[in-house]
Amino acid sequence: MKLANQHIFVTGGSKGIGAAIVRDCLEAGAKVSFVDIDVENGQALVKELKTHGHSVAFAKADVADPAELKKAYESLVAQFGDVTGVVNNAGVNSYADPVEMTDEQWDAFFAIDLKAIWLTARLALPAMRKAHKGAIVNIGSIHGRLTFPNFFPYGAAKSAVLGLTRNLGVDEGHHEIRTNTVAPGYVLTPLTEGWLDAEPGRRDRATSIQPMGRMAQPVEVAKVVTFLLSDDASFVNGSDWAVDGGLSARSA
Ligand SMILES: NC(=O)c1ccc[n+]([C@@H]2O[C@H](COP(=O)([O-])OP(=O)(O)OC[C@H]3O[C@@H](n4cnc5c(N)ncnc54)[C@H](O)[C@@H]3O)[C@@H](O)[C@H]2O)c1
Repeated sequence: MKLANQHIFVTGGSKGIGAAIVRDCLEAGAKVSFVDIDVENGQALVKELKTHGHSVAFAKADVADPAELKKAYESLVAQFGDVTGVVNNAGVNSYADPVEMTDEQWDAFFAIDLKAIWLTARLALPAMRKAHKGAIVNIGSIHGRLTFPNFFPYGAAKSAVLGLTRNLGVDEGHHEIRTNTVAPGYVLTPLTEGWLDAEPGRRDRATSIQPMGRMAQPVEVAKVVTFLLSDDASFVNGSDWAVDGGLSARSA
C-alpha cells in the first residue's frame, strides 16, 4: 500500500492513461479524486470502482477553465481532505498547420497541455507547503524531446512541460514537494487508437518502429506514476521518466 493515507488528484481521469492512474493509485491505497470534461465515462468509472469499496470521487471540470477547475478541486478536497499528490494527465493532441492555426486555437491548446499544470500546482501547493510534503507528476510525452511531422505545436507544449517540471522541482524541493515528468511513447488509449485508425497502414508502421515490437498498455505508464507519487521515490525530483519501450533511444 504505497499510497496509504494519501489523497491523489488526477486530471483527465475518465479514460485512457488517466483512468489507469486512478485505478493504480486506488490499488496502492490512496483516496483518489479526478476531474474530466467526459462526464459519462467519469461517472461510470466511479460507479464501477465504488463497487470494489474504493474511496474515489469525480467532478466535471475543464482544466482550461480556472474558475471551474478551482470549484471542482475545492469540492473534492472537501470530500477527501488536502491533496497530497497531483497527476496532471489531461491533454489533447494538436495537428495544426503553422500558417492556418488561429490565435484562439493556439491559446486553447496551450491552456490544456501546459497552463493547466500551473493551475493545479497553484491550487495544491499551499497545503503541500504547510504539510512540508507533496508530489506532482506531469504527463509529458516522447514529443518533449523529439517529435514527428504534423503534430504542431504538440512538441512545444510537451517540451515546456519538462521546463515547468524543473521550475517546480527546483523551487518547491525545499518544501519536500517533488515534481517529475512521465513521458510516454505510444500508449493504446482512445486518443492513440483514433490516430492509428485515421490512416490506412499507420498502425503497422507505428508498430514496426517499436523496439519492443508493441505499444504500451495504460497501466504500464500508471505504475511509474504511482512509484513517483510514493515515498519510494523520496529523492526523485525535477526529472523526466521515459516510458516509451526504448523508442526515444532508437535512431531513425
Ligand atoms: N496515448 C499516448 O500514446 C500518449 C503518449 C504520450 C503522451 N500522452 C499524454 O498522456 C495524457 C493522456 O493521454 P491519453 O492517451 O490517455 O488521452 P485520452 O484522450 O484517451 O484521455 C485523456 C482524458 O483527458 C480528458 N481531457 C481532455 N481535455 C480535457 C480538459 N480540457 N479538461 C479536462 N479533461 C480533459 C479527456 O476527456 C480524456 O478523458 C495526455 O497528456 C497525452 O498528451 C499520451
